[in-house]
Amino acid sequence: MSTGHRRGGREGDGGGEVQARALTPAEVRGALEEGGLAGLSLPTLIALGVLTPKGGASPSAHRKLKQISHFLQLLAPALAEAFERHEDPIIVDMGAGKAAISLALYDVWVRPRGRGRVIAVESREDLAAKVRAVSAAEHPRLEVVCAEIAHAALPERWHLTLALHACDLATDHALTRALDAKSDHVALVPCCQAEVARLLQPVKQSATPLAALWSDPWHRREFGSHLTNVTRALALRALGYAVTVTELTGWEHSLKNELILGRRVGRFHRGAREELRALLGQAGVRPWLLGALEERGWGEEPASPAPAAPAAPAAPADPADPAAPAAPADPAAPADPAAPADPADAPPPSAP
Ligand SMILES: C[S@@+](CC[C@H](N)C(=O)[O-])C[C@H]1O[C@@H](n2cnc3c(N)ncnc32)[C@H](O)[C@@H]1O
Repeated sequence: MSTGHRRGGREGDGGGEVQARALTPAEVRGALEEGGLAGLSLPTLIALGVLTPKGGASPSAHRKLKQISHFLQLLAPALAEAFERHEDPIIVDMGAGKAAISLALYDVWVRPRGRGRVIAVESREDLAAKVRAVSAAEHPRLEVVCAEIAHAALPERWHLTLALHACDLATDHALTRALDAKSDHVALVPCCQAEVARLLQPVKQSATPLAALWSDPWHRREFGSHLTNVTRALALRALGYAVTVTELTGWEHSLKNELILGRRVGRFHRGAREELRALLGQAGVRPWLLGALEERGWGEEPASPAPAAPAAPAAPADPADPAAPAAPADPAAPADPAAPADPADAPPPSAP
């Protein structure tokens, strides 16, 4: 997919500040083929208004296709594992919008296998209704839940959680829902972030010399976003995930481009927890996510210490699945041996 691009433009579509050129219908088909998205249902994308009536792409749709293609490529190992391990893997797309990602996952992964489910969570009723209407016939395994992420009625357990450009705290709500569901995999591409910048504003240099990092409003916004994403990565590590932070796609296709990938390895990591506490203490802020983790106990040892935890049991999450070997902790951040193993069901087996 070639792009002519420049900066400038809208907020809110997860990086709409970058311009790409429009594509003709033939170019769209070529780009989908090239991007591993040949199975995408073009009539559905046209009905949703993602593509033009003739199947072409506006500059913003062009960027979106590029994001989807990269996202699916980066998710491929997690998806392959979910489909290998679970008879009917459940993928939850939080803050789904027009559900372009949900539909792409469906078309590329669910339909060809005839199994698996996608749940798209979207708070806007108009969007949810439209996605339901246009996808009903061809996407029977796609469910659209119209609700706030924090309160959406979802299964007790699911396997892959996505949040692509879910605004501000919506990404944190997606993260905590993923933790509660013991989602095997989590993929967050955060969007605009305002909470921490707001919390940093009153923290002055008299309180910490670090305040020079955010005394300018521009730096406060950038540093607030960065601190938020570091908080999210440490939170996942603390709660038993191996975490990789990487780039979703080129800056020319999205300015909201940080991808936080978590793979559940099932051991709490006390070091990450303490690191996060110290970091937020230094910055003098207490974001919503910290309170949400504390409410969940986030790996605190029980009052009377339990005996040293054995390696994670091999009990499989899916009854149809053969017993999984115990998973090691994140090799980049070895689990604290004193920290209890997550008592919940087994995480995915270790990656080869
Ligand atoms: C920037 S759009 C991204 C849509 C889609 N994930 C994508 O990347 O194309 C963010 C979407 O999240 C939805 N959203 C924001 N906060 C939400 C919340 N707390 N619960 C459910 N949906 C939310 C918005 O209505 C919007 O449709």
